[in-house]
Amino acid sequence: MYVAQPIKWTEHGVVMLDQRRLPAEEISYTYTDYREVAKAIREMVIRGAPAIGVAAAMGVALGVLHSSAKSKETLQRELAEVCAALAETRPTAVDLTWALERMCVRFAELSNETPDIEKIKKGMVEEAKLIHHEKKSTDEAIGRFGAEFMPREGQVMTQCNAGALATAGIGTALGVIRVAFEQGRKLHVLVPETRPYLQGARLTAWELHKGGIPLTLITDNMAGHFLKSGKVGAIVTGADRIAANGDTANKIGTYQIAVLAKENNVPFYIAAPVSTFDLSIPDGEHIPIEERSADEVTHLQGVRIAPDVHAAHPAFDVTPARYIAAIFTERGVARAPYIDSLRSLAASRDTVATARS
Ligand code: MRU
Repeated sequence: MYVAQPIKWTEHGVVMLDQRRLPAEEISYTYTDYREVAKAIREMVIRGAPAIGVAAAMGVALGVLHSSAKSKETLQRELAEVCAALAETRPTAVDLTWALERMCVRFAELSNETPDIEKIKKGMVEEAKLIHHEKKSTDEAIGRFGAEFMPREGQVMTQCNAGALATAGIGTALGVIRVAFEQGRKLHVLVPETRPYLQGARLTAWELHKGGIPLTLITDNMAGHFLKSGKVGAIVTGADRIAANGDTANKIGTYQIAVLAKENNVPFYIAAPVSTFDLSIPDGEHIPIEERSADEVTHLQGVRIAPDVHAAHPAFDVTPARYIAAIFTERGVARAPYIDSLRSLAASRDTVATARS
């Protein structure tokens, strides 16, 4: 089945598919400078929490690889600058911070292992490639755990895009749907368009269509109508940050779908890797919400659709844990009380093999 490739490391640099142009055009760019990667993340060439993490790791690798530092100390100072530039690109997706921290830990390990700067650079590139590589097995494990919760037949709903484009694997929420579909479950996906950036209409519809999974595109304000019909068996979305108590930030509009799900007795699930947990914050009140340009609300693909008035654009909202029936991760399924289940999953051994060459 078709799996989109949003990013890859090549000998020429980091190649990214420009997701802003989908579905109209499939255009890729090659970046050789970490500042270009930071710009690409900020401007949504690549988006989706896990894919942002992969891009950040590759950005760090580029920064280190192209450094002219002659000592480990200078290289370490430059690494800090590179990480600071990448860290400030998008505030909500915690996979970004996770990937930067992992790259810094690897730098410290490599620095202890060898005095050879070239070996350190090579090791950093390998680590970024490994982070990318792991996404496939992580998503597949999430998909296997989550697929059990999908109906044998009928409609499921998602929100935004949590597919291969968003993870650089097979997707989290769409990975669950994909695995269930491949198991023979006869699913039909309701895809809210996800205003204002239209990740549902432009990206999820594109991925599902290419993958041969039946779908119906709906506008965001149709979600209640469809959930009330009694025909939707489950909802599964991705996440950008999951607080210690299970409160979950995801694309704006997710919260209202979760509330409507509860009202209509439809189970609402989150699918996300453990790297999306932020156990340092107690609840969703502490999750930073990205404010994007209001032009994305007043304009549609450059065309003004509203008068010149004040408009707001919080890019994410927080769904309280009480609306979430379960959280699918690569290490298993978390259930309420999340304060215990998330902690125990975070502490458990990874079921996904990580192999350094
Ligand atoms: O603003 P975006 O497109 O980066 O937002 C993406 C989402 O909200 C996704 O649902 C989330 O990152 C999970 S992706 C597996």
